[in-house]
Amino acid sequence: MLFKNKVVMVTGGAAGIGRATATGFVKEGAKVAICDVNPEAGKTTAESLGPEATFQQVDVSDNKSVNDWVESVVNQYGQIDVLVNNAGITRDGLIMRMKEADWDAVLNVNLKSAFNCIKAVSKTMVKQRSGRIINLASVVGVIGNPGQANYVASKAGIIGLTKAVAKELASRAITVNAVAPGFIETDMTASLPDKAREAMVTQIPLGRAGTAQDIAAAVVFLASDQAAYITGQVIHVSGGMYM
Ligand code: NAI
Repeated sequence: MLFKNKVVMVTGGAAGIGRATATGFVKEGAKVAICDVNPEAGKTTAESLGPEATFQQVDVSDNKSVNDWVESVVNQYGQIDVLVNNAGITRDGLIMRMKEADWDAVLNVNLKSAFNCIKAVSKTMVKQRSGRIINLASVVGVIGNPGQANYVASKAGIIGLTKAVAKELASRAITVNAVAPGFIETDMTASLPDKAREAMVTQIPLGRAGTAQDIAAAVVFLASDQAAYITGQVIHVSGGMYM
């Protein structure tokens, strides 16, 4: 029970990596507040996690909704030990054809969201003089990917944000790290045609796509006491796609 009496917030917790991460924390005894833009999936996931989980419908790109969510968690539990910025979307397309709306949506949901959430929890964490923030980046935020200029820019931005905030909050014993997944089997990657999937897997030294649990394990580790001396880092969990 690594997280008994700890309060963990996970964005985009209704599905995929967010749901696996919330599950990992509940198994370790945490109280877990998940939010998601999808209310049906969010409620179902929270119910399946049991009484230690709560769900609130939040669009993480909306500053006020995020502030209201964080305030309600602080009112309920009086503390925030871990924030996982996980919610993310893709709106792929080549740069010459990419719509401005698709650029804005991806930057808002993937990057501005992290600003909204980190700013909102930082007051509580600074007062506590403890906290863990883990941001979901991506291997493509480091190596690039054609057809994903918006997504890649958002994930590279997440990495920069992680390092800047890690330096700002280190003196209060708050660590800030990023996990960079490779190719993970979730709804986000489910629509890829079989041929593209096979081509992706050939790029992975460990020879398989990752699971949401592979990523959740790294997030839970970074939030644990064992990771107290790790901050400002990007941990790649990609089967070796990037070395
Ligand atoms: P997913 O699509 O399976 O789940 C994302 C969740 O976020 C969904 O429940 C969705 O409703 C929620 N969400 C979307 N927009 C939201 C918003 N505005 N406000 C609140 N919630 C919102 O995606 P997956 O694969 O679990 O991805 C999780 C994170 O991991 C994302 O940040 C993604 O970019 C990152 N990642 C995923 C990879 C993959 O191969 N699946 C690879 C690298 C990074």
